[in-house]
Amino acid sequence: MASTVLVTGGAGYIGSHTVLQLLLGGYKAVVVDNLDNSSQISLKRVQELAGDHGSNLVFHKIDLRDKPALEKLFASEKFDSVIHFAGLKAVGESVQKPLLYYDNNLIGTITLLEVMVAHGCKNLVFSSSATVYGWPKVVPCTEESPISAMNPYGRTKLFIEEICRDIYQSDKSWKIILLRYFNPVGAHSSGYIGEDPRGIPNNLMPFVQQVAVGRRPALTVFGTDYGTKDGTGVRDYIHVVDLADGHIAALKKLSDPSVGCEVYNLGTGKGTSVLEMVSSFEKVSGKKIPLEMADRRPGDAEIVYASTEKAERELNWKAKYGIDEMCRDQWNWASKNPYGYEPPAALEK
Ligand code: UD1
Repeated sequence: MASTVLVTGGAGYIGSHTVLQLLLGGYKAVVVDNLDNSSQISLKRVQELAGDHGSNLVFHKIDLRDKPALEKLFASEKFDSVIHFAGLKAVGESVQKPLLYYDNNLIGTITLLEVMVAHGCKNLVFSSSATVYGWPKVVPCTEESPISAMNPYGRTKLFIEEICRDIYQSDKSWKIILLRYFNPVGAHSSGYIGEDPRGIPNNLMPFVQQVAVGRRPALTVFGTDYGTKDGTGVRDYIHVVDLADGHIAALKKLSDPSVGCEVYNLGTGKGTSVLEMVSSFEKVSGKKIPLEMADRRPGDAEIVYASTEKAERELNWKAKYGIDEMCRDQWNWASKNPYGYEPPAALEK
């Protein structure tokens, strides 16, 4: 029988791409999402892309803080493992509304963990973030690098990691993999699913994409005086489909008897500057991205990229796609869906 995976936040950007890879890999995926920052249309499209496997996807609109609803779900179905994506992720908003972040991310996770224990499901893959490396003193970041948090959002990731380490210490029958994502970009090559942030995008590529389709006049480049090759910030961009495949590798690893609570970086190991990213996007899209040079964004690190050795060695996983492919797929999605999944009514033909 196919293994059944509960995917929290499965309608979101990384979640939807992972659900597709799960279905194609023969898993049954049960998605819970409160749709606060995502659209159910992503899942309809995932279902279509999955072809015959599409019927192995089930969706429930549930907020993780709604314990009775989660209890009911776990009582109705047995889950072999849980991939936990659900959470708020805007750094600036987390500084303005810390309680919202602690309530949503921490209470949501604690409730999920409680219900998992109550139903004997102790296999978890959690979406952590390279944000836990703060401003790294040494790159590449290895899983042993010091961790810290620079804002409430980052603190929720750090706290959840610590909670996971504590529950594993208290009960060694848990199997937990914490995945530290670097910078996910791009979209499925069909251009049918992709990232669709609400409001003004905080992250680089969603912003670039909105400039390319004419929704915004120019990209503001945050900082041109970093000690990098061209003065702009350097990050480890990773294709979202590679990232999704990293979750399948992590799920497989959960059945390894040696696994307790483990951390893995999911990145490419390569650093790319903001200007290099823009230039690759311009090349593959044929679109000019007007730039406005500005001061550094508070809280931004200079150079962040991953050591990928541990994931390669232990998960048998390695990112396949390069920057041009990430930008090509980002543009394919953007040009086909300039206003995301739910364009304003006035724009619909
Ligand atoms: C950001 C978050 C990080 C979070 C991650 C999630 C901050 C300070 N950090 O990381 O906590 O885990 O997103 O994906 O928000 N840039 C511009 N102009 C823009 C947007 C970004 O120049 O309009 C630059 C940034 O200065 C940075 C690079 O592009 O050098 C990447 O930025 P971004 O996509 O926001 O990712 P991170 O800052 O790495």
